[in-house]
Amino acid sequence: MNYEILPIVKGDFKYFIPPLFRSMGFAHFVATLWPDNQTDQGQQRAIERFMAEMDDHPGIRWIKAVDSTAAEADGSPKIVGIAQWAIFEADKTYHEVPHYAPGDLWPNKLEKDYAIHLWESYIQPRRAVLRKENLPVVNLQILCVWPEYRKHGAGGQLVDWGNRLADEMNAQCIVEASGMGQPLYEKFGYEVKEQVGLKDDARFNDRMYGKIHIFMARLRREPI
Ligand SMILES: CC(C)(COP(=O)(O)OP(=O)(O)OC[C@H]1O[C@@H](n2cnc3c(N)ncnc32)[C@H](O)[C@@H]1OP(=O)(O)O)[C@@H](O)C(=O)NCCC(=O)NCCS
Repeated sequence: MNYEILPIVKGDFKYFIPPLFRSMGFAHFVATLWPDNQTDQGQQRAIERFMAEMDDHPGIRWIKAVDSTAAEADGSPKIVGIAQWAIFEADKTYHEVPHYAPGDLWPNKLEKDYAIHLWESYIQPRRAVLRKENLPVVNLQILCVWPEYRKHGAGGQLVDWGNRLADEMNAQCIVEASGMGQPLYEKFGYEVKEQVGLKDDARFNDRMYGKIHIFMARLRREPI
């Protein structure tokens, strides 16, 4: 199936945040960083956070894969999956927005500290790449296709969109891949750089076995 890939506008958030969290909200990483993600209030908080990020950071590009034969409640084409890409360029400032929920949503300080520790562990390889000499970089920050629409090419089209953007800018691409995403990224030219686990902290070492993500990168079109 060939989906149409379109830019996300603010009116789309109410349609795609609930299925996004339905699809990914129970994963350890998301559930720890967004503990209220299954509630209406938590989803509203996410919408506000992502919209503010869009206003503050022109390098953020949200895109959607749509099935034009079906419709959302307002008649716009049915969203079947989304991606958030971020462009990092040498002459533009980009303040890192932590991907954990704003506010104090955790039951106690230890749980909040663990969420921050998980984020700090997750983000290390990205931070190492985003140095001036490596820019421009295009980072695939979020990718999800709703379960009932998977394996019909939407994920590939959302990745291909960012790869083309990167090639136009002669940027390298990076992604913090899930095990599910890894084969797709390999198909689209990404290589595994690092298996990323929790940083050492005696309070949290028994929280998670194995990796948080697989850090992958795709070379720029022309070496510089
Ligand atoms: C990873 C993810 C985005 C892939 O989305 P998708 O829409 O299923 O991706 P595609 O359909 O493009 O490709 C997936 C597979 O389906 C196959 N496929 C594509 N079109 C197909 C078709 N018409 N019929 C059958 N299979 C098809 C692809 O060849 C690919 O298989 P392969 O990996 O063996 O080559 C999706 O599984 C997902 O949302 N997972 C949960 C969230 C997640 O892990 N996101 C990545 C975080 S970094």
